[in-house]
Amino acid sequence: MSRKTADKYSRIAKYYDRFEYPIERLLFQKLRAEAVSYARKKTLEVGVGTGKNLPYYHPDIELTAIDISPGMLRIAQEKQHDVHVKCLRLHEMDVQHLSFADNTFDTVVSTFVFCTVPDPIAGLQEVHRVLKPSGSAIFLEHMKSRHRLVNVMLSLMNVFSTRMLGTSMIRETQKNIERADFTIESVKQVVFDVVRLIVARKPGT
Ligand SMILES: C[S@@+](CC[C@H](N)C(=O)[O-])C[C@H]1O[C@@H](n2cnc3c(N)ncnc32)[C@H](O)[C@@H]1O
Repeated sequence: MSRKTADKYSRIAKYYDRFEYPIERLLFQKLRAEAVSYARKKTLEVGVGTGKNLPYYHPDIELTAIDISPGMLRIAQEKQHDVHVKCLRLHEMDVQHLSFADNTFDTVVSTFVFCTVPDPIAGLQEVHRVLKPSGSAIFLEHMKSRHRLVNVMLSLMNVFSTRMLGTSMIRETQKNIERADFTIESVKQVVFDVVRLIVARKPGT
């Protein structure tokens, strides 16, 4: 399942930035900058894709970024000259099986990833495991709405998005974050409540 997702994203990698450009400018650029502004010291970005968030990181950040798709990572690699972080390491890796030790990172950032991960709870538990106690996890994700009519539309879109990219439009990502034992500190909603910027924390010891 994850292999299929990787192959699908590798196939569209060179078009990904252009395809999303108008929606990006209108809706998400500011939210990406806001999401990344929560990053502290040792940060992990999961599902980094083509590296759309990379230019927003502060120069003090020591950034590790992973993605399952080698094609997406190749494009991220090409953007290294736009990145001002202290150091950047890119790895091909599945968020459901992270190879980092427990309690490694101060912050984990994820933007538009957990709609695609086959077992989102497993991925979120891995994020929880590699975060230091009291570390923060920042999620900018689209998900199922609380409005019935909006969900009808999302369910229609879901028929295509699951086939084309293995992406679900109706995941309950906020609930999944709670199921993975994070404490949610704030939620900012846009596009009704379909896109949410969620600041969550791993409880301290
Ligand atoms: C919709 S794209 C978002 C990319 C980027 N975060 C952004 O905001 O533009 C989803 C990304 O998640 C990656 N992905 C999907 N499943 C994954 C998994 N199990 N582990 C790591 N990355 C995954 C895909 O390869 C793709 O790059």
